[in-house]
Amino acid sequence: MNTLVVGSGGREHALCWSLSRSPLCGKLYCTPGNAGIAAIAECLSIGVDNIDAIVAICQEKRIEYVVIGPELPLTLGLADALRNAGIDCFGPSKAAAELEGSKAFMKDVCTQAKVPTANYQRFTSAEEAKNYVRTQGTPLVVKADGLAAGKGVTIAHTNEVAFSAIDDALVKKIFGPAGTVIVIEEFLEGEEVSFFALCDGDTALPFAAAQDHKAAYDGDKGPNTGGMGAYSPAPIFDAAMQERVMREIITPTVEVMKKMGKPFTGVLFAGLMITAAGPKLLEYNVRFGDPETEAILPRLKSDLLAVLYAATRAVLDGITLKWYDSAALCVIMAAEGYPGNYKKNTKILGLNEAQRSRDAIVFHAGTSRNDTGEIIASGGRVLAVTGWGTTIADAQKTAYQAVDKIQWKEGFCRRDIGWRAVGGQELSRKISG
Ligand code: AMP
Ligand code: GLY
Repeated sequence: MNTLVVGSGGREHALCWSLSRSPLCGKLYCTPGNAGIAAIAECLSIGVDNIDAIVAICQEKRIEYVVIGPELPLTLGLADALRNAGIDCFGPSKAAAELEGSKAFMKDVCTQAKVPTANYQRFTSAEEAKNYVRTQGTPLVVKADGLAAGKGVTIAHTNEVAFSAIDDALVKKIFGPAGTVIVIEEFLEGEEVSFFALCDGDTALPFAAAQDHKAAYDGDKGPNTGGMGAYSPAPIFDAAMQERVMREIITPTVEVMKKMGKPFTGVLFAGLMITAAGPKLLEYNVRFGDPETEAILPRLKSDLLAVLYAATRAVLDGITLKWYDSAALCVIMAAEGYPGNYKKNTKILGLNEAQRSRDAIVFHAGTSRNDTGEIIASGGRVLAVTGWGTTIADAQKTAYQAVDKIQWKEGFCRRDIGWRAVGGQELSRKISG
């Protein structure tokens, strides 16, 4: 089956890597891909938001199956456009992708499905929002309703911080249309877990759990990022917790989406807070996580292509997943300055040395090749270095051994990925080339 992966990050490299190992996989394409993906798939040059061009290239190249990585094309209706053209794909419809595209829609579904989540209110008026903050008191969380590239969330421990987040979205409109509606919600305390379930519209199959690190610097300090590292499995998420989350959160959501005429097919990514009162839903994403995927797929023994295709064909109830009895941990190497301004086109060496170990792999995120064929950094998150082993501690060791072989002066990474699972050590050191 000729297969196309849409996207260009570490998640898409991990998806391509896993799909390329399937005996069912014919020619593998990726658009737009990156320098690492180019070693295992033919990269096309169509942007992820160019829906018509993606459908056209599938017809031209006889691509039979499309796996959609990021949320943007899903919220723009790529899955619908492909299905209308008779092309199978993995990913939800535009209507179902609203679970991620609109926090307000997600909250409405949660109310109908009785999913435990933070109490919330929606506002379009800054004055009303501020009055709500005054009556509720902080801590509170202020969120832009639409997609704001991970920057639309403010955890406010004081009224002043809440007021300025409200003004940013509703008065200064710094998120544009994504922030014309805001949600103010209860602050939940606990440990965060990313849980993934595959869905075929009817059936939801638990896939895997991981924990990621969103803060830029060691000790969970610094600005929020897309994720600086992840590990899987998540020790806090045992079989009983998974069963509870399926029963209280995932299954009722899938049922409500079906009743609403917006059946969910694809991967439902639940961002959970494990609170003292049990698991609560922070947010839904309608795609695989990045960097969670880079820490999950190396553990998967089953044929990924067969599993995703079963979701597409609505036969997930016949699938049993097999996993290696191991842990994996992924360290993100980012360009100095990320998540703010960072330099581009800096040279990276040592990538082959980093992958000499049989227990490590370097997934590329923001890389490309310069005119002389050297690998250069072309994004904020640049490499996703994954190691695996019997325990998370072993996986951590292998991942950092690989990281230490990479020579990239303008890059940095956290040295404490996995600290919760491994026991709290913080090895603060910058990478030097
Ligand atoms: P979101 O974009 O909704 O996932 O939010 C980004 C991050 O903000 C989450 O990963 C949490 O760490 C934090 N967060 C969001 N909502 C809440 C909440 N209600 N209580 C505590 N932390 C939250
Ligand atoms: N790592 C979080 C995300 O993919 O949204």
